[in-house]
Amino acid sequence: MHASTLLGLLTAAVTVSAAPGCASAVSAGTVKCPIVFDGRVKTTAVPTDFDSYATSIFNPDYVKGQNLKWSEILKFPTVANARFDNATYKPFEVTISDQSIFQTQRGFRRAGLQLSGDTNNGSPGSKGVKTIHFSLKWDAQRPLNLSHEYLNVWHEAADYSANQFNFEAGAILGQASLPKDTWKVLDRKNKQIWSTPILKNDWQNFAITLDFNKKFVFFLALILQNKTKMTNRRTSTLQVYYSKGDEPLKSVTSAVSNDNSGEGQYQIGILKKPTGTSDVVNSGYQESNLNEGLIYGSLFVEDSANGCVSL
Ligand SMILES: *[C@@H]1O[C@H](CO)[C@@H](O)[C@H](O)[C@H]1NC(C)=O
Ligand SMILES: *[C@@H]1O[C@H](CO)[C@@H](O)[C@H](O)[C@H]1NC(C)=O
Ligand SMILES: *[C@@H]1O[C@H](CO)[C@@H](O)[C@H](O)[C@H]1NC(C)=O
Repeated sequence: MHASTLLGLLTAAVTVSAAPGCASAVSAGTVKCPIVFDGRVKTTAVPTDFDSYATSIFNPDYVKGQNLKWSEILKFPTVANARFDNATYKPFEVTISDQSIFQTQRGFRRAGLQLSGDTNNGSPGSKGVKTIHFSLKWDAQRPLNLSHEYLNVWHEAADYSANQFNFEAGAILGQASLPKDTWKVLDRKNKQIWSTPILKNDWQNFAITLDFNKKFVFFLALILQNKTKMTNRRTSTLQVYYSKGDEPLKSVTSAVSNDNSGEGQYQIGILKKPTGTSDVVNSGYQESNLNEGLIYGSLFVEDSANGCVSL
């Protein structure tokens, strides 16, 4: 197919992989696929558990202001549990303050969790088909300032040159047409593929399936002379699932073609970009006396081989 023959370009992408293998009903909020990394925090956990390798389910050293400990960053608000947190687990809140400056990155305020065992190279989280689950709850005591761009969950390539996907909130720099008050999933090219309004009073549950294998994906292309042509390509894909409250997750996108190559790691928390600069890492405006946070629950990565996704 020659690009110049395209009239409407690609209008739909439909995966043709085998049918999902986990069709049978299970009780609401149960994890039904093998867990690769468990980021759910036990009810018995205390803040200082997150300061050492022996007791933390996350990397105690990254990615945060060097003068802060995770025990100063994480809080345990008294809110109801999220969908996949049974009575064994509790929600946790990631916060940022004026001290949340990682290394020399003075433009950002950030506190990002890395899951224990999710190494930058050779991680099982960057192979096969994996789904990262997380639930979010707004904290009215520590609201985000949606005039800024926030990265909350992403997968960063091992050479730090790109993120395979970004789950974001707020005003996306350079994309003023996107509303501020939504959660957004952006692909590797920073193109929004899905969004939903931020709810202030309910849990919102998200799952993102990354298929690192390149599969044949049929692209339905409209070409001149009113003909429809099917072409196919090998590509890795991204698919988003969503629900609110305690409702079962539903697929809200198809398996969208996305370049998932480059390995790397998941990161979960808050990275707040500055305003008023073209060099967001190192400069720009951040207000002082920051006291912002976001409540997380139901955090885990599961193995979605054979189409298994916990709903
Ligand atoms: C919660 O789930 C975990 C594993 O997912 C299980 O081991 C545990 O027994 C469950 N606890 C309760 C109270 O249901
Ligand atoms: C939110 O951010 C904007 C842009 O940096 C700033 O002008 C405003 O003062 C901030 N609002 C609050 C409540 O901090
Ligand atoms: C394509 O279809 C439209 C509407 O049916 C028709 O008006 C037009 O002439 C067709 N174009 C070609 C190149 O066949």
